[in-house]
Amino acid sequence: MSSLLNVVRTRRLRSTPELRRLVRETQLDTVDLVYPLFLRHGQGVKNEVPSMPGVFQWSVDRIAEEAKTIADLGIPAVLLFGIPNSKDPIGLENFAGDGIVQRAIRAIKSAVPKLIVITDICLCEYTDHGHCGLLNLGEPLPEPNLPEGYILNDATLDVLGKVAISHAEAGADIVAPSGMIDGMVAAIRQALDQKRYQQIPILSYAIKYSSSFYGPFRDAADSSPSFGDRHSHQMDSANTHEALREARIDLDEGADMLMVKPALPYMDVIYRVKQSYQEIPLAVYNVSGEYAMIKAASINGWLDEERAVLELLSGLKRAGADFIITYHAKDAARWIEENKEPGKT
Ligand code: PBG
Repeated sequence: MSSLLNVVRTRRLRSTPELRRLVRETQLDTVDLVYPLFLRHGQGVKNEVPSMPGVFQWSVDRIAEEAKTIADLGIPAVLLFGIPNSKDPIGLENFAGDGIVQRAIRAIKSAVPKLIVITDICLCEYTDHGHCGLLNLGEPLPEPNLPEGYILNDATLDVLGKVAISHAEAGADIVAPSGMIDGMVAAIRQALDQKRYQQIPILSYAIKYSSSFYGPFRDAADSSPSFGDRHSHQMDSANTHEALREARIDLDEGADMLMVKPALPYMDVIYRVKQSYQEIPLAVYNVSGEYAMIKAASINGWLDEERAVLELLSGLKRAGADFIITYHAKDAARWIEENKEPGKT
């Protein structure tokens, strides 16, 4: 026992920052980060989201400057969300040529062509009822065999296809359907291909749980459902085998990349999906509520924000994320750069 104690000393490789860096298994890098952006109409708007300090809603005239800042930090991609001028049962602005996201895509791509623009494709920010699809409402009910207020799956697919085409026409690089509507990937692939946008990849929010951690986002994007919840389409948080089924279905439909969302309560799911589909790039969404928790604790002085965020993000990489969508991307990019200096970590 005592001789073994003299031989095995794992602390040898932890003694200096240089040695720790040399043997580090997981590398968190800025090239793995995606920064979400919220766009709204108006001039000169930069509104801080109350439940997400440091995150803003931007008007299109200010977005070029912000896009440059993001790109200068080395962040390769942004994910766009729009808040429309007016809402209706279908969400018409979602696929309007001069819609808020379409205008933002053009502004960003002309200011910083190399910044990858990913667009979220869903109905909830655009519909007056705040749901992710068209609803079974009216006299008579469009689908008499389905409950009143139920999200109409296949009618919604047509709208999702139109939105994807409209984003592609505006110059989006990647589209990311987030509504957990059955068949959404196939419908979007078909719609894009018909318009000869076969080169645009689909990042599917394949494994999206019905989560309390989306709360602050719904403030930021003004997308809370006016009644009911999202349990009829988003996944039950108790399930993990089902995640593999969702992944397989979306891949069969033509998804190029998969996403697990939220991140922290679903580390096991991230790990399993990556182990099962190692050849498929896996995104993880470190969502608004996760950001808000860290922010609130940091503002109170209860957590060291830099250390907490870097630990959390490298945990997600360790679990299997290839890239991470996070509201902390800009701060993380700065911290990652600073920590490359000799003598750090
Ligand atoms: C749907 C969408 C949501 C998020 C991303 N896309 C909200 C929802 O499903 O209610 C949440 C992201 C976050 O919480 O940061 N358009």
